Amino acid sequence: MQPVSKGPIGVFDSGYGGLSILRELRRVLPQYDYVFLGDNARAPYGSRSFDVVYQFTRQTVERLFGMGCPLVLLACNTASAKALRTIQQNDLPVWDASRRVLGIIRPTVERVGELTSTRHIGIFGTKGTISSGSYPIEIAKFFPDVVVTGHACPMWVPLVENGEYDSEGADYFVKKEIDALLSEDPLIDMVILGCTHYPLLEEKIRRFMPEHVRIVPQGGIVADSLADYLDRHADMRQRLTTGGSCRYLTTENPDMFRQAASAFLDEDIEARHTDL
Ligand code: DGL
Repeated sequence: MQPVSKGPIGVFDSGYGGLSILRELRRVLPQYDYVFLGDNARAPYGSRSFDVVYQFTRQTVERLFGMGCPLVLLACNTASAKALRTIQQNDLPVWDASRRVLGIIRPTVERVGELTSTRHIGIFGTKGTISSGSYPIEIAKFFPDVVVTGHACPMWVPLVENGEYDSEGADYFVKKEIDALLSEDPLIDMVILGCTHYPLLEEKIRRFMPEHVRIVPQGGIVADSLADYLDRHADMRQRLTTGGSCRYLTTENPDMFRQAASAFLDEDIEARHTDL
């Protein structure tokens, strides 16, 4: 892989969910150029094995590097949980050690301590994220006193990917998972939406969640954390181009992507198809 001098920030998700992160990145760091890549053709990743998530994620990162991105953000908890470490440890040194791949679990976890009073928190995520144990493991490093209950919501990503997040049918699945989590630990006073698709369900989640439970989406947290990272890493900051543009790539049909993406972004966009 050729070393790159300057390029855009690459943002990756299995599908549309990462757009909820991208939207906040562009709000907090509007000066940079971005390339978003959604692997919609192979989404969801949530129930896939470690090896498959790793192979898929590796391919997308390689593609974004091939487009000249010095920095790639995995805007996907499942990929952050199952592929990030192997890519950082095994692939980056071989590809180009000067580039960076960052995930979104660590920055989210760092904020947990200030957001709970009872010290009992819940994590909603995909099967893959929850079964990886990544959240409890990372939280224990920063806040060993916090009791973490993870709960997988296997229907939530398909509801979002299929544009059903607003439907009455979604009510059933949202309420069901909230009730299950809170019956497991009634002391929970904060829940992390540990999947980038879930912010589209946030209104419904709010409706069925007891009022005293704080709901924490990741977008703002991740954007602030990247801003902080770039403040501390002038070498990386200087390698990012600053035209304020954003390109969208999907492994699925670009018209489908364009229509669905507009709901996440509140704006019309153009998308291109890419094979991996
Ligand atoms: N949006 C991804 C996440 O944050 C997962 C969606 C999927 O299952 O592909 O975990």
